Amino acid sequence: MNEIGLIGLAVMGQNLALNIARKGYSVSVFNRTSEKTKEFLEERVKNEKIEGYHDIKSFVESLKKPRKIILMVKAGKPVDDVIQELLPYLEKGDLIIDGGNSYFKDTSRRIKELKEKGILYLGMGVSGGEAGALHGPSLMPGGSIEAYEMVKDVLLKIAAQTESGPCCTYVGNDSAGHFVKMVHNGIEYAIMQAISEVYDIMRKILKFSPEEIGDVFERWNNGELNSFLMEISFKIMRYKDEETGKHLVDLILDEAEQKGTGKWTSQTALDLGIPTPSLSLAVEARSLSFFKEDRVKLSGKVKKTYPDVKLDKEKVIKDLENALLFSVFTSFSQGLWLIHEASKTFEYNIDLPEVLRIWKGGCIIRAKILDFLREILNENKENVNLLDSDKSISFLMDKLDSIRYVTNLAKEFYIPTLVLSSSLDYFLSMVEGNLPANLIQAQRDFFGAHTYRRIDKEGIFHTEWEPID
Ligand code: 6PG
Repeated sequence: MNEIGLIGLAVMGQNLALNIARKGYSVSVFNRTSEKTKEFLEERVKNEKIEGYHDIKSFVESLKKPRKIILMVKAGKPVDDVIQELLPYLEKGDLIIDGGNSYFKDTSRRIKELKEKGILYLGMGVSGGEAGALHGPSLMPGGSIEAYEMVKDVLLKIAAQTESGPCCTYVGNDSAGHFVKMVHNGIEYAIMQAISEVYDIMRKILKFSPEEIGDVFERWNNGELNSFLMEISFKIMRYKDEETGKHLVDLILDEAEQKGTGKWTSQTALDLGIPTPSLSLAVEARSLSFFKEDRVKLSGKVKKTYPDVKLDKEKVIKDLENALLFSVFTSFSQGLWLIHEASKTFEYNIDLPEVLRIWKGGCIIRAKILDFLREILNENKENVNLLDSDKSISFLMDKLDSIRYVTNLAKEFYIPTLVLSSSLDYFLSMVEGNLPANLIQAQRDFFGAHTYRRIDKEGIFHTEWEPID
């Protein structure tokens, strides 16, 4: 009898199974196509106690009760299909853990449906890609605490380990785990886009080669910007295509794909009324990139006259570093705010500093700055978007001139900076006591009698404005 079952042997599933087995647990694996299971057992399993099964019944029967089964299958219908296949063989008290990037509302539905049948269910965000799954991912499990307790020991062992503990915690009730993973990805999109924008400025304005940009990125990675995404970016810059000997990054088509988690983050933020412009514009940037043909055609129609400026390259690089730090900080600010709001609305009961802690290792957005963010939040847990602190304000104000300069410079050279600019505008909006929304309210009242409130007296008002011709 094996201790853990795992379904879905794509690379993430294979690596997670190996990780679990290497921590001393016996694992049963199953994959829809048997070939994959055979291949995995033959090619990758050495001394680990992993057994493959070719039908779901014997797979389930190979597990110790109460059974614990991890699903590593594609989000969406495949998850429901596997659950349906499993159900006839499961018993009350068994546990299913969905380790994919499932939409949080699907997870809530599944928790509810399975609870009626006495089956426990955890929705668990798993971040860190293939390497993370094998050597230690960041794990974001959510659901009932009772379900978490059943697998807590395994999860804590297989997660990435940092000096502040394993990158796994009980995130919260219901779909809290998948919600947090979704927002993790929203932040991931924003940081990736912000890095791409500073890269664009370096190659198009400073005329740097990928090699030179790689050196800058590496230098940044040794400082405050130290992070997984910075590290892979400098490695990408240096990577040469074997066939042509050219830098591979220059040969990659500029159309960014997406599987939906970033979009869901923005959609949810709009639903909950929490501003996340940097996260949303990162999704927009990917959408815009997809219109390559139109972009190429239109670029031939626009005459661009570039300014003749002599730039102090070292200063620009320092400004870019500051701008990126500003954007990373404000992206986390927006993401955390959204998680906090969801935690209230859906009664997740999420501990934000704990979320920051489990993002410190294993995951794609792991970064040195997380310690600073956690310090700010620990000083005042109510400061859910991190902005209401002297430390945050001085951190951002120190970089304000840089991000202003960099975004203006980019515009002089016709370079779009959707995330950098929106990070700046997010901050400027949040520190502006007097936004032009008064005019919007007046317009709404003018054309639709939607009413407005006043700053000089209490109440709801409507005005008979000039008649419309
Ligand atoms: C992670 C990642 C991962 C995600 C990829 C691709 O944390 O390991 O977020 O879960 O699937 O980043 O996502 P997109 O295809 O949407 O870019």
